[in-house]
Amino acid sequence: RVIVIDFGGQYNQLVARRVRECGVYCEIYSYKTDIEKIKEMDPMGIILTGGPNSCYEADSPTCGKELFELGIPVLGLCYGAQLMTHVLGGTVERAAVREYGKTKVTVDPRCKLFENVPYESICWMSHFDYISKLAPGFEGSAHTADCPYAAAQNTNQNLYLIQFHPEVLHTEHGKTMLSNFVLNICGCAGDWKMDSFVEESIANIREKVGDGKVLLALSGGVDSSVLAALLARAIGKQLTCVFVDHGLLRKNEGDEVEGVFGSKGNFDLNFVRVNAQERYYAKLAGVTEPESKRKIIGEEFIRVFEEEAKKIGHVEFLAQGTIYPDVVESGLGGESAVIKSHHNVGGLPDFVDFKEIIEPLRDLFKDEVRKAGLELGLPNHLVYRQPFPGPGLGIRIIGEVTADKVRIVQDADAIYREEIARAGLDKTIGQYFAALTNMQSVGVMGDERTYDYAIALRAVNTIDFMTAEAANIPWEVLQKVMSRIINEVRGVNRVMYDLTSKPPGTIELE
Ligand code: XMP
Repeated sequence: RVIVIDFGGQYNQLVARRVRECGVYCEIYSYKTDIEKIKEMDPMGIILTGGPNSCYEADSPTCGKELFELGIPVLGLCYGAQLMTHVLGGTVERAAVREYGKTKVTVDPRCKLFENVPYESICWMSHFDYISKLAPGFEGSAHTADCPYAAAQNTNQNLYLIQFHPEVLHTEHGKTMLSNFVLNICGCAGDWKMDSFVEESIANIREKVGDGKVLLALSGGVDSSVLAALLARAIGKQLTCVFVDHGLLRKNEGDEVEGVFGSKGNFDLNFVRVNAQERYYAKLAGVTEPESKRKIIGEEFIRVFEEEAKKIGHVEFLAQGTIYPDVVESGLGGESAVIKSHHNVGGLPDFVDFKEIIEPLRDLFKDEVRKAGLELGLPNHLVYRQPFPGPGLGIRIIGEVTADKVRIVQDADAIYREEIARAGLDKTIGQYFAALTNMQSVGVMGDERTYDYAIALRAVNTIDFMTAEAANIPWEVLQKVMSRIINEVRGVNRVMYDLTSKPPGTIELE
C-alpha cells in the first residue's frame, strides 16, 4: 500500500482516491502519526499532501527528517513539497506572485514522474509560498512562468516533489503523474480493486472487534446498507442493526429494508425495526425552521436509538456509515465550513454504552461505496437506489411536517421514480426526488377552484455529491410525471422542476 500523510489540505481525499484509481491501496494518516508506526506499516510509497500553512512558521505541521531516510519513495505535493524542501535544507519563501488556478507548466520529460506527460500542459496551482532554493541533492524537473521549481527530484534518494496539484482534474496529466509515482517509482502492482478493499476491511473489522458486539443504526440508505452488509460478512450475529422507521421514509421503504435485512433476508445479523412514526410527527408539529427540524429529527433518533440500545445492553462498538462527503460538509474534514448538520457525523452520542466508533467507509466517495456494495453481493437495485438523507422526507417537506404532507410527498415521489425508471433514466441520473414546497396556489380542476400544494421535482447529475447540475429530463417525461401527480395525488395542483445547480443550491431543499 501507499500512505498519504495529511497536512490539512482540501484535496487530500482526492489524492487517496486517485491512487486507488491507479489500482493501489491507499490510506490517509495525520501528520502527527508516529514515525515508528509508519515504519511498521512498511508502505511502498508515501505522499505528503498540501495544507494551508507556511512550513517555515514555528507552529506549522511538520515531519522529521527521518521520514525521508526510510528508503521509501516520497512524493510531496504543494505544502508537502515545500515541507520536504524546508526539512531537507532548501528555502521556502513567500512568493511575490500568488499562483492560483490553471497554469501552464513545462516539464522535463526525462523525469520518471513525467513519463508520457507532454512537454507543456496545464496544471492546477494554489500556493502563496514557493521554493526559492532546492534542498541539496535535488534538481528541478518542471517550471511555470512564476514558479522556478514546479517540480523537482532527488533520484538517488527517491524523493520527488510537485508544487501544483496532480490530484485535481484540472491538472490535465495529473493522473499519469500519480500513476508514474505509485506504479513506476514505488513499484506497486496496480492490481488492487474494490474486492481487496472489502477483504481488507473485513480483516480489519475482525481484528478490531474481536468477539465484541457492534451496534449499527441502519437507515436503509446506500451507505448504511453497505456497512451492514460489510459488518455482517465480517462478524455475523455480533452485529445488531437498529432500523428506526421515523415515518419520513419513502413509500413502502420500511418494508423493503426489512425484506433485505430482516429475518427473511440474506444477511446473518440481528435486525430490530422500531416503528416511531407517531413520536416523530408529534415532535415536529409546528416546527418550520430547517436546522431545527434536522436537530429534532436527529435528537429524536438518538432517543429512540438509546431506548433500543439499552435493551441490548453493553456493546463495545458503534458503527457508522459515514462517507467522505459527509465528513467534509460537516466541517470535520479540515477547513471547510459547516454547510448542513448531517446528523450521522460527529453528532452521536454519549448515551450508548460503547467503547469506540467504527467507520469503515469514512474514506470512500459515493461511487466507491456502491462498488463495495456490489462486491458484497448486495442487489443492484439496493446499491443503485437513490441516496436518501438521514432526516428523510423531513427535509423534503419545506416548512412544517405533518402526516398528511408526508403522504403527499411519498405518493408524488413514488410516481416520479416510477416514470423515471420507465423512461430508462434511473441509472443515469445521480439523485432525483419529489419535494413538497410549502406554497399553496390557486388552480382549477374540473369546474372547481383548487387551493393546493406545489410539488417540486428535483433531479441532479453529480459524481461526488459536492457539486451537481440539474439533469436534462425529456419534456415528455416531465409532463407525464406532472399529469400523473396532479391526477393521482390528492392535495397537489401544481408541479415544478427545480433547475438549480449545486452550488449555489444544495441537492436537498433544506
Ligand atoms: P445536499 O443537500 O447537502 O446533499 O447538497 C448532498 C447529499 O447528501 C445527502 N444529505 C444527507 N445525507 N444526512 C445524510 O445522511 C443528512 O442530513 C443529509 N443531508 C443531505 C443528500 O441527499 C445528497 O445526496
